[in-house]
Amino acid sequence: MSEVQEKKKIILSGIQPTGVFTLGNYIGALKNWVKLQEDYNAAYMIADMHSLTVRQDPAKLRQQILSAFAVVLACGVDPNKSLTFIQSHVHQHAELSWILSCNTQFGELNRMTQFKDKSAKNADNINAGLFTYPSLMAADILLYQADLVPVGADQKQHLELTRDIATRFNNLYGNTFKVPEPYIPKVGARIMSLSDPNKKMSKSDENQNSFITILDKPEVIIKKFKRAVTDSDMEVRYAEGKDGINNLMSIYSVVTGLSYEQIEKDFQSKGYGDFKTAVGEAVAEHLRPVRENYERLIADKAYLEQCYKLGAEKASNFANRTLTKVYKKVGFIAK
Ligand code: TRP
Repeated sequence: MSEVQEKKKIILSGIQPTGVFTLGNYIGALKNWVKLQEDYNAAYMIADMHSLTVRQDPAKLRQQILSAFAVVLACGVDPNKSLTFIQSHVHQHAELSWILSCNTQFGELNRMTQFKDKSAKNADNINAGLFTYPSLMAADILLYQADLVPVGADQKQHLELTRDIATRFNNLYGNTFKVPEPYIPKVGARIMSLSDPNKKMSKSDENQNSFITILDKPEVIIKKFKRAVTDSDMEVRYAEGKDGINNLMSIYSVVTGLSYEQIEKDFQSKGYGDFKTAVGEAVAEHLRPVRENYERLIADKAYLEQCYKLGAEKASNFANRTLTKVYKKVGFIAK
């Protein structure tokens, strides 16, 4: 074996601690986080500062941040392997965000589709933070010199802007930031709503049966899958126009590891009822350890505190190296 170990690339991602996490969050993001920590130097953050762009109830937010941190660990992110921290614990994020704001154009921020969507939805609170949010996200990423950022479709534009900001800063002040690349997961299953398979599964859906949360009890999960909307055909088959079945097949495939061909074979002579029950049971089993880990972790506040304090300290040390460099480059006097 070679003595020289190739340096692992840095991969970084964040998740907002608002509301419950769904099966979509789990399959689309958290499950990948766990896998990625083996091959990369991973950094994962609870993006609590981002959550303030929408009005939050302080007591509820406090509880949700801790809960989100526990969920991340419950899914299998190992705080000894991956840098796991809470964004607001690392003051360098806010500081770099200011510098980057001064290097981001109004027009660039004004083009962000998420800003347009969110300001339409929150017409009574179109705050400056909602507008400059991409500069904070750029700071999150650039502080850690991340090579790769796993992002879903909704964050792609923000990552593009991060790349533009980094490149511009590097050209202006000399090489300072790694310009990050998007990381597209190999199996990019997009989990759709169980009641309307044309819509993404979302925790903000009014219909509670349309989404599965990571912490749902097995009976609830099975019941929700039984009610999943399918079609008037009878065959368990992946095909155009069968959005409901396609969604169930992709979920089943992710949690069991079976290929579509195998699933079609296994359910050849069975009806949708049997298939829905099988998917429900498989998902319930898959999420069982996560829920059990969560229940154990959330009851152990001392352990959680120890983990996020250690994470904050390590993250701060790393982030400070980048911030110090940046302060010097822009002309600030070292204290
Ligand atoms: N903005 C992301 C979201 O709403 C969360 C996030 C914050 C993030 N900082 C990040 C994602 C840095 C990737 C990298 O989902």
